[in-house]
Amino acid sequence: MPTVAAELQPHHQGDSPADEANWWRQAAVYQIYPRSFADSNGDGIGDLPGITAKVPYLKELGVDAVWLSPFYPSALADGGYDVDDYRAVDPKIGTLQDFDGMVAALHAVGIRVIVDIVPNHSSNRHAWFREALAAPKGSRARDRYHFRDGKGMNGELPPSDWVAAFGGPAWSRTPDGQWYLHTFTPEQPDWNWDNPEVRQDFLATLGFWSDRGVDGFRVDVANLLVKDLAEDLPSRAELELMDRDSGTHPLADRDEVHEIYAEWRKVFNEYQPPRFAVAEAWVESPVRRAKYASPEGLGQAFSFDLLVADFDAGQFRRIISANLEQVRLTGSTSTWVFSNHDVARHATRYGLEPLKGRKVKQGTEWVKAGGPRETLDIDGGIRRAKAATQFMLGLPGSAYLYQGEELGLHEVADIPADARQDPSFFRGAEWDGLGRDGCRVPLPWEPDGPSFGFGANGAHLPQPAWFADYAASSQDSDAGSTLAFYRKALALRRLLQAGESMVWIETGNADVLHFARPGGWHVLTNFGTEPVDLPRGEVLLSSVPLNNGRLPGEATAWIRV
Ligand code: NOJ
Ligand code: CA
Repeated sequence: MPTVAAELQPHHQGDSPADEANWWRQAAVYQIYPRSFADSNGDGIGDLPGITAKVPYLKELGVDAVWLSPFYPSALADGGYDVDDYRAVDPKIGTLQDFDGMVAALHAVGIRVIVDIVPNHSSNRHAWFREALAAPKGSRARDRYHFRDGKGMNGELPPSDWVAAFGGPAWSRTPDGQWYLHTFTPEQPDWNWDNPEVRQDFLATLGFWSDRGVDGFRVDVANLLVKDLAEDLPSRAELELMDRDSGTHPLADRDEVHEIYAEWRKVFNEYQPPRFAVAEAWVESPVRRAKYASPEGLGQAFSFDLLVADFDAGQFRRIISANLEQVRLTGSTSTWVFSNHDVARHATRYGLEPLKGRKVKQGTEWVKAGGPRETLDIDGGIRRAKAATQFMLGLPGSAYLYQGEELGLHEVADIPADARQDPSFFRGAEWDGLGRDGCRVPLPWEPDGPSFGFGANGAHLPQPAWFADYAASSQDSDAGSTLAFYRKALALRRLLQAGESMVWIETGNADVLHFARPGGWHVLTNFGTEPVDLPRGEVLLSSVPLNNGRLPGEATAWIRV
């Protein structure tokens, strides 16, 4: 009997120019948070040579691309999303030469490279912000950011009462008395996108990395760049009443932002294949999101709808149908994601009571409470996470995975306050009490040793003792491990992925979703707890072992019918 892998032939050879240009449409993209991935020189900080050393691991995992969170020079006021210099590598984590070496090593094994671009704000150490601070009021240098006089007798009050995303005021005062706007921390001044020099400089940055061979860009808060800062600024309360869905809100998702991305598209299209981009845009509706995914703009936009959903058949089905409908209108493909560097890991979200309502918020609540392990269903969380992931990997479109989820990692909740780094913890953000460090803890590569094989010494965030049980090296040779499951799923997905369509098949059971992809690939997920029958066919993969040929609760199977 031939094995499954030998019988199946890849549907996409990926070598015609059209295939080349469309590589991203159904790619499995693995997000790397560079400072927490692998430390090559024992200073406790993950680095670019560390990534290069793990290329064989990434190849074996079977991803099509990696997306690197920022690796630019930064004081890490916001984990690197405070960029000092957009066209350089942070000396703490490597050099441009290391970057080139990493890209070459990834490309050599057929893995594409996506870098993070942060256009809403720079850091306060960026040369242009320093220049702006040194320059007088009303100067050309200040026009690249949003500087304003304050209110009150002596300008001692901020221009408005707006609150920054991680807490505290959205305006900070400069030594000469003016104020500048920052949507995030005071160390992240917002660029003024009405300024032509700012626009030009970002085009140069896109060209710089594209010339170095990067395949695409993930665009940070793509919806915030353009602002309408009228003379009389609305109050915070007024802002909250304004329609965010109309393209005319003063701060978010303004229609003019798409003029910027049309310019970027021209740069992307100068390359062969054209450079790819995906927007991070937490906008109000799928219709607004679709604008970012336009082929005249960035081309693809993250959908976070599944990420904020419960582990629930009805919700999953509604979300998927709505998203597929939207991408049909733009000609893009959908994106699916459960975990990233900003949210509690999905194994943890799905491991918390009550079992309905396993939302991001709930993971946050648990983290806030210091996450006592007794309140977490550790195995159940991983079981549901695997079921959800296998379901998602069967969907048409791109799948975004976050480092460590392939090891079945849970969120780390018990990080002492003095070891935390996330500004949302220190600034008391309303939406998050303890911040996002718990999903950014350096990975366990080995079951023992200093920093569990992350590096030769410690790790920049403390790793819990239980990381020993999740080490990549132990899972590597264990056919029943989460890592082995991800590898199998990704390898099969590569072979099975054909066309971009799917059809729902009615199951008559509200807890069971079933859909079929071209080529007889069937995906069936049991969100309930009772075992269910499977369609006749060859079972290619199941997220837990079958029970007398039936699919147990909280599990997914792929069947070739
Ligand atoms: C979204 C990024 O994913 C997040 O990590 C960052 O803090 C904000 N944008 C600000 O850049
Ligand atoms: Ca290092």
